[in-house]
Amino acid sequence: MQLPDPASAQDSILIVDFGSQVTQLIARRIRETGVYCEIHPFQSAAAAVAALNPKGIVLSGGPASTLDENAPTINPAILDANVPILGICYGQQALCMALGGKVEAGHHREFGRAQVTVEKPSELYAGVWDLGTDHQVWMSHGDRVTQIPEGFEVVGTSPNAPFAMIANEARRIWAVQFHPEVVHTPDGAKLYANFVHKICGIQSTWTMSAYRQKMIEKIRAQVGSGKVICGLSGGVDSSVAAVLIHEAVGDQLTCIYVDHGLMRLNESEQVVTMFRDQFNIPLVHVDASKVFLEELDGQSDPETKRKIIGRLFIEVFEAEAKKLGGAQFLAQGTLYPDVIESVSFTGGPSVTIKSHHNVGGLPERMNMQLVEPLRELFKDEVRVLGRELGIPDSFIGRHPFPGPGLAIRCPGGITPEKLDILRQADAIYLDEIRKSGQYDKIWQAFAVLLPVQTVGVMGDGRTYEFVCALRAVTSVDGMTADFYQFDMNFLGKTATRIINEVRGINRVVYDVTSKPPGTIEWE
Ligand code: XMP
Repeated sequence: MQLPDPASAQDSILIVDFGSQVTQLIARRIRETGVYCEIHPFQSAAAAVAALNPKGIVLSGGPASTLDENAPTINPAILDANVPILGICYGQQALCMALGGKVEAGHHREFGRAQVTVEKPSELYAGVWDLGTDHQVWMSHGDRVTQIPEGFEVVGTSPNAPFAMIANEARRIWAVQFHPEVVHTPDGAKLYANFVHKICGIQSTWTMSAYRQKMIEKIRAQVGSGKVICGLSGGVDSSVAAVLIHEAVGDQLTCIYVDHGLMRLNESEQVVTMFRDQFNIPLVHVDASKVFLEELDGQSDPETKRKIIGRLFIEVFEAEAKKLGGAQFLAQGTLYPDVIESVSFTGGPSVTIKSHHNVGGLPERMNMQLVEPLRELFKDEVRVLGRELGIPDSFIGRHPFPGPGLAIRCPGGITPEKLDILRQADAIYLDEIRKSGQYDKIWQAFAVLLPVQTVGVMGDGRTYEFVCALRAVTSVDGMTADFYQFDMNFLGKTATRIINEVRGINRVVYDVTSKPPGTIEWE
């Protein structure tokens, strides 16, 4: 695990993770208040306290029961840090166990919406909730506290959790049974704001322009007079990383854009033009489409296609990097969610649904050091940074596009002709979505060219052409997704345009599968 960099020490909050599904939301809520925070697993809490020197600590929820043998416990370093503590759900129970209270197992399960009643004033909700009022919160717990430790008092109750909110204001510890980080606790963000500003005394200094300056200095210190290369994918993360690094070290950075021939209509030109002309970043544009399409020829198995593309990408990138003559640094757009070491209670690898296209093995192969200026950021923070750096909104707000590109949107065998048909249909679909003002409401939308031909009639003639499937989903993180509910008139109009304008398609269908059970991409 990477520990925080003491050189970048600032007023911060430490979030100790006990494995809750929503720990990342705690970090989101705190960063939204303009305060920096980091998540660390409970096992390494002591090291994190030492390195981060936080002004406050939040203990997350978690799936375990404090009554289980080997249940995660509060590391003494957390209590010894002598800073304000906020315990959430499991964090509350673990605090109670550590400080001499009692927790009871499972007969008072409470899931979903609940009402808490404010029984006593508390700094945690000062100015937000008044004495005697009821408020909606979101609960998700099996165990509950039955006896609070000495020095604590109950400040709020709910029908199933008589200790819904407890506090020891003298010792600066607050703990709640509910989850203030989720949207179903409508005032939760205000409680976090109270905790970080009023209780921990931290100002809102976590801004993107401050981050930009800090990172520029950090990149300069790391890279010195060395050379950096950055693989551009056309995606937001690698683009923002490249522009930031260029601002820090100028032409010591060279970007490599490997065009695998599986990009969308005009996409390669847009990427190359933006980086070369608008940002003046040295860019090598490798047209490797011939080799990719040759190796993909005759391959129809999704995993085989993905593996061929992943391998070739690394080979082409490596060859181009070598031609540049010895760069010492490789830039990557790694984000914070990829860095957080997750707390695993079940252990064991999860099933591989798809082999993702990634270049994770490259640095070791090429003996290079990584420059990862986004590793402290969440995706939407990267977008804010991108705007701060002057990258156009049309680029920053783009839907995600997978590394293997159109290859996984063309089930079965791939031919240049099929890719062309797909590109045209996809461009019309996205054009209609943009024109109707729906682009930003959708997580991802794309066309898929099915390996199926059907009979149609156009003019007075028979046609026998491909079926095009349209997909659009809403999602928060791509892990789960819902199909997007278009108006039927929109779908009808788009289908007509595709069939009229694209030679090779005579039928259009809309995919109404959510994830799970489907995945977002078709392969
Ligand atoms: P699935 O299809 O697994 O996709 O539901 C979830 C999200 O991941 C994207 N995706 C990829 N992104 N390399 C990537 O960079 C890949 O190999 C890859 N496969 C899927 C997909 O577009 C969606 O946003």
